[in-house]
Amino acid sequence: MKSIDNILSDEISLDPADWQEVRALGHRMIDDMMDHMHNIRSEPSWRKIPDETKRFLKKGIPRTPEDIEDIYGEFRRHILPYPSGNIHPRFWAWVQGTGTPLGALAEMLAAAMNPNTALGEHSAMYVEQEVLNWCKEMISYPQSSSGILVSGGSMANITALVAARNHQTGKNIRKEGIRAAKGNMTLYCSTETHSCIEKAVEVMGIGSNSLRKISTDDNYRIRTDELEHAIISDIAAGDTPFCVIGNAGTVNTGAIDPLDDLRRISAEHNLWFHVDGAFGALAKMVPEYSESLKAIERADSVAFDLHKWMYMPFEIGCVLIRDAAAHRNAFASETNYLMNHERGLAAGPDPMGNYGLELSRGFKALKMWMSLKEHGIQKYASVIRQNIAQSFYLGKLVEKEKHLELLAPVSMNVVCYRYKADNLSDAELNGLNKEIVMSLQEQGIASPSSTILGGKYAIRVANTNHRSRKEDFEILARETVRIGNRIANRGFGA
Ligand SMILES: Cc1ncc(COP(=O)(O)O)c(C=O)c1O
Repeated sequence: MKSIDNILSDEISLDPADWQEVRALGHRMIDDMMDHMHNIRSEPSWRKIPDETKRFLKKGIPRTPEDIEDIYGEFRRHILPYPSGNIHPRFWAWVQGTGTPLGALAEMLAAAMNPNTALGEHSAMYVEQEVLNWCKEMISYPQSSSGILVSGGSMANITALVAARNHQTGKNIRKEGIRAAKGNMTLYCSTETHSCIEKAVEVMGIGSNSLRKISTDDNYRIRTDELEHAIISDIAAGDTPFCVIGNAGTVNTGAIDPLDDLRRISAEHNLWFHVDGAFGALAKMVPEYSESLKAIERADSVAFDLHKWMYMPFEIGCVLIRDAAAHRNAFASETNYLMNHERGLAAGPDPMGNYGLELSRGFKALKMWMSLKEHGIQKYASVIRQNIAQSFYLGKLVEKEKHLELLAPVSMNVVCYRYKADNLSDAELNGLNKEIVMSLQEQGIASPSSTILGGKYAIRVANTNHRSRKEDFEILARETVRIGNRIANRGFGA
């Protein structure tokens, strides 16, 4: 064991011994990544990870120093060639944005500055406040509201629901827990709502039985008659309804709930009205959608992602809450070790930990700040509009092709369709379409994902991709038919 004196006489750090070497490598990394993004169209949309790479990535903890050139070589050989592919022009799986070159550089700058955007008097705190104000402006939400940048839609939704839960009972839920409420605390959403809401309700101790999932109409929009009936019967049963959740773009089909009706019903029963607009809230900037999404302006809270339809690199989401005091009351705490001072580093804006679950937080706001300056908000609205137009175009291609069938109306940027053949049952078509999705991905043609609608397996395209072009959707439709015909004629595995 070394003595303290010996350790201190030989102090070490993690900075490079040779700064020039790291600088040169950094320049090359930037060149390589710019080429990677620039040339992504000529790459397959997805590649299978070889067993050799999987073995390599299980080698165990490094105990001795390795050369940074070698480490970068390993990244290029084993990591870079096998991405999920969401920066590719034909990636439309789940709902994932595409990122941008400047967004990636902003991440590098944020990591180099490395601020903890939890508290204190430093620039990152003010950049976040500015970006939050921009987010309010983007969806015409009141500037007096409060907000916080979070990792994504799941965190944004739970943050809003915690504020709703604590505020609506008028009890001290933070101290007493939900047992302080009368009966069960119930909340309402459609069956099409994203699973993160159910997870939030479970984590919040409310229990998923109290999340009333209301059925939807033929357009996958919540049935407001059933909603009103459910609220009234819960009140009659002695429960405490507290929140209605509307979807601005459901995850399955992109359906927009009748938000204005939901707001009215919430107001009539004195309930908190929350909108999960993970991607769809931002379509409010598109003139054709400003009316159907207008009620967002009057919601009590709204959750949306900036890594989806603002094309920011992962991760960044946003929650805005109309009643800033209700928001702060849900999370604020006083501790000796996080005290604000009048001057110096510990001065500064209200600590962000008073507005969410996390204390330590990275500098997410920088990529949004730089990217919005790069393009201006109008360009984002135009690209979102382009994504919607492309989705309607794909819908038309599907309708025109006798071997394809739409499984849900196209209402925004999500298209659910399947290959069909007259002689095959639904069960057989389910298997065949699943095979098509896997083949499209394995052949590196395109990456749609899938869902089940009314028992039917759907090929699902969620378009939040600023690199996609009209021809990419033509390729998708054509290749779906080609692969579908081949399997239908020759059987699976053909
Ligand atoms: C409607 C909706 N809500 C919530 C989420 C969850 O968002 P995140 O994955 O950013 O946590 C998603 C994700 O796709 C979504 O589509």
